[in-house]
Amino acid sequence: MANTILVGAQWGDEGKGKIIDVLTEEADIVVRTQGGNNAGHTVFIGEKKYVLHLVPSGILRPNKTCVIGNGVVIDPVSLVEEIEGLRKLKVRVDGSLFVSGTAHLVFPYHRELDGQREILKGKHKIGTTKRGIGPAYGDKADRTGLRMLDLINPERFEGQLKAKIRENNEVLKAFGAKPLSFKAVHEAYRKAGEQLKPFVCNTVLKLHEAMRGGAEILFEGAQGTFLDIDHGTYPFVTSSNTTSGGACTGSGIPPNRMDRVVGVMKAYSTRVGEGPLPTENPEIADLLHGMGREFGATTGRARRCGWFDAVATRHAAMVNGIDELAITNVDGLDTVDVIKVAIGYRAGGERLDYMPSDIEVFAKCEPIYAEFEGWKTPTDKIREWKKMPAKAKAYLKAISELTGAKLTIASTGPAREQTIFL
Ligand code: GDP
Ligand code: IMO
Ligand code: MG
Repeated sequence: MANTILVGAQWGDEGKGKIIDVLTEEADIVVRTQGGNNAGHTVFIGEKKYVLHLVPSGILRPNKTCVIGNGVVIDPVSLVEEIEGLRKLKVRVDGSLFVSGTAHLVFPYHRELDGQREILKGKHKIGTTKRGIGPAYGDKADRTGLRMLDLINPERFEGQLKAKIRENNEVLKAFGAKPLSFKAVHEAYRKAGEQLKPFVCNTVLKLHEAMRGGAEILFEGAQGTFLDIDHGTYPFVTSSNTTSGGACTGSGIPPNRMDRVVGVMKAYSTRVGEGPLPTENPEIADLLHGMGREFGATTGRARRCGWFDAVATRHAAMVNGIDELAITNVDGLDTVDVIKVAIGYRAGGERLDYMPSDIEVFAKCEPIYAEFEGWKTPTDKIREWKKMPAKAKAYLKAISELTGAKLTIASTGPAREQTIFL
C-alpha cells in the first residue's frame, strides 16, 4: 500500500479512526505526527468501542508497529492511562508502541492556562478541548518546552520542572488561578516517566530503518484541514499542522518518500468548538443528534452539523494534495429528502468560489447550494458499490468530483465491515 498520509478534509472527526483501522490491515506501521490528546479517534471492533487519543488507531490490529512521532505533544499521565486501558482490554501495547524522545510534553499548567485564556476571551473563545494543546505548542515554538527525553532523565527533569512551575505559577496567579504544587506534579510525572521509558526511542531512525527493510507506513492525521494552524480558519484552529505536510515534519519522513494522500470527509459537515461553519443547519443537527450521533469523542460536546461544503473540501484537496477520498457517515443522510451541497459562497454581494482567508469575510459567507434528491433507503447493510442506491452513488460521485479527488471508500456505518471499496 506504499507510504500513505491520511488527513481529515474538514473540521475534524471525519471518521479518520475508522478508516485508519481499515487501512491498517495493509500497513506495517502507523504513525501519529501531530496534535495531542485533543484528538478522539473512534474504532469499533465487533460491539466493542475504542476511543484513542494519543496512541495510533493501528494498535488494535495485531502485529502492527505504532509510533507517536516527534510532532505530537504528549500529556504523559494521560498516555499512561491510555496504555493501561488498552492493556486491560488485552490489546498488545508493549513491544508494539514506540514514542519519540523529541516529542514535547503537556503539563498541568498548560491545561490550566488553556482554560484561563478561554475564560478571558469570553465570547471570542476558541472552544478548545482544554487539554493544554495551544500552550504546549506555544512553549515548543518559544523553545522553552520540555520533551520526552527530559521526562525519562529524572535528575535533569526535576530542575527543569521546578523552573517551569515557578514561572507558570506567576502567570497563573496573574489570572487569579490557583498555583500548582511542584511536589504533586513532579510525583505524577516522575511515575509516568518510569512507565513510559521503555517506549521511548529515536523514532526517526526507527522509521527509516523499517523503510529500508520494505515496511509500509500509514500516517494517521489528527484534527482536520480547517483546524490547521496555517491553513485553517485562524484563530479558530488547533496549534499544529493538521494538513499533509505535518506528517513529514512530525515524523522525519521526507516528502519524496510519501506515495499517496487519502482525505477522509463526512457526507455532511460537522464542527466542534467555535468558528465559522457556513453550511451549519439546525435541522440536520437535530436529525443526527436525535440518532444519538455527532457527540464529541474527547469532550462529549454536541457537534455542530451542516450540509457538505464542496468549496471547503476543494480547498482541502488542494492544500493536502489529496489523491483519494474516503467518505464516511453516508448512512447519516439515509432519511433526508433533499440534500444540499455548498458549491460557492456569497459575501458582500460578490460570488466566491474559494474559501476567503480573512475570518471576518469567511464568517459572512452565505452558501450557494446545489440540491440532490435523497435515496431514502438504509445503506448500513450494503457491502458493495453496485448495490448502493443510484441516488446515493450519484451524490457521492458528485461530491468527490466537486472536491477534485477520486472516491475510493464509502463508509456506511462505524464497523469495519460497513466499508465499501470502489
Ligand atoms: P475521527 O476523530 O476522525 O477519528 O472521528 P471520531 O471518531 O471523532 O468521530 C467519527 C464518528 O463517526 C465515530 O463515532 C465513528 O464511530 C463514527 N463513524 C465513522 N464512520 C461512520 C459511518 O460511516 N457511519 C456511521 N454511522 N458512523 C461512522
Ligand atoms: P480529531 O483528531 C474535532 C478543535 C476544538 C477547538 C479547536 C482548538 O478527533 O478529529 P485545541 O484543544 O486543539 O486547542 O482546540 O480545535 N479540535 C477538534 N475538533 N476533532 C478533533 O480531533 C479536534 N481537536 C481539536 O474543538 O475548536
Ligand atoms: Mg474525533
